[in-house]
Amino acid sequence: MSSDQISVTPCTPQIGAEIGNVDLTKPLSEGQIRQIHEAFLKHGVIFFRDQDIDFEQHTRFASYFGHVHIHVGGAGTASKPVDGYPAIRRQHYDKDSARISGEVWHSDQSCAEVPPTGSILIQKIVPPDGGGDTLFASAYAAYDALSPQMKAFLEPLSAEHDGAKLFDKGTTTQYPKATHPVIVTHPESGRKLLYVNAGFTTRIVDLERDESDAVLGFLYAHLAKPDWQMRFRWQANSIAFWDNRCTQHYAIWDYWPNTRSGYRIQFEGVARPVR
Ligand code: SIN
Repeated sequence: MSSDQISVTPCTPQIGAEIGNVDLTKPLSEGQIRQIHEAFLKHGVIFFRDQDIDFEQHTRFASYFGHVHIHVGGAGTASKPVDGYPAIRRQHYDKDSARISGEVWHSDQSCAEVPPTGSILIQKIVPPDGGGDTLFASAYAAYDALSPQMKAFLEPLSAEHDGAKLFDKGTTTQYPKATHPVIVTHPESGRKLLYVNAGFTTRIVDLERDESDAVLGFLYAHLAKPDWQMRFRWQANSIAFWDNRCTQHYAIWDYWPNTRSGYRIQFEGVARPVR
């Protein structure tokens, strides 16, 4: 293996891969960046182990893949920006936490007109007895498994995504709201995927309310099937880097009163989701 050849070990056939033979505390070569980007596109979420990166190194790694993004969630979110690094959110949960971020199936900030392209999350402290895993699901595989009739029914529909559904915990903040197609084409892979999520999607705008509730209920249950999901077990200095355009995730809060503490960076989306 040449020195800039990374290793890619798939987690499941549908989603996820562990990346090895790379040190993210050091600047990466063009070849390493290209291989990581290819693995990210192919597997939807990629993982790195034993990467003791600081805020500068975290920012540098994200900047290889796009512009870093300032979170739109406002006062109601459970994560907080890091002093001096407004694009890095501290996601720290312990015995005093009333809630955590992401304890529902969602793609990050789909309530934005142009949602973030991806997220890079590192854990620095993990619970001593396990727990705090993150589930990831492939919205490509969920779409592929639908019948041709269901695909044709969903194809012309659009859905509203409202930040208040996930973020509003009694604050007065105005949250973003956006309408996106229910079936989206990924801008880089050209593959179609299901683009509704239980965290942000409130209704299918083309349907009556009870019809919308029934269809969304079916789609959320379909997206949550284990057939196209995986579960990532964190260690200290593990990193998950997900493609927010074609995956959903769910953070499990089964570790209270223990502590799980990490930092997340997102990078800006470049275009609205389209059919
Ligand atoms: C998130 O939704 O970004 C949080 C994911 C996690 O903490 O595992």
